Amino acid sequence: MIGNLNHVAIVVPDLAAAAAIYRDTLGARVSAPMPLPEHGVTTVFVELPNTKIELLEPLGEASPVAKFLAKHATGGMHHLCYEVDDILAARDQLMARGARVLGDGEPKNGAHGKPVLFLHPKDFAGTLIELEQA
Ligand code: CO
Repeated sequence: MIGNLNHVAIVVPDLAAAAAIYRDTLGARVSAPMPLPEHGVTTVFVELPNTKIELLEPLGEASPVAKFLAKHATGGMHHLCYEVDDILAARDQLMARGARVLGDGEPKNGAHGKPVLFLHPKDFAGTLIELEQA
């Protein structure tokens, strides 16, 4: 069902500092910061040959990643994003297999403008999983 690893998301307390680590220390290609107020985050994308790293900094009071940062002050891995061909078919198969989909179960437009869903970490080896329709 799942295809390529689209990105690994890392929540960070200081987006400029994290972007500098990837750009200057690790020598990666790094995008400009992109505020996404509807998602409560500002993102920087690190482009790797085979996937992306999504650096996320909380934006606004109700940011969904603020609680994560409260528990992990230095930042840390937040979720993995796998591509699927058909997000509704994938959702229905996963729910039939007992997996829990977060929120109301309906796909929302993600950071790349494509439909995404999140799956409960307790059903997936302790890892929050994002599915993105490729
Ligand atoms: Co993501």
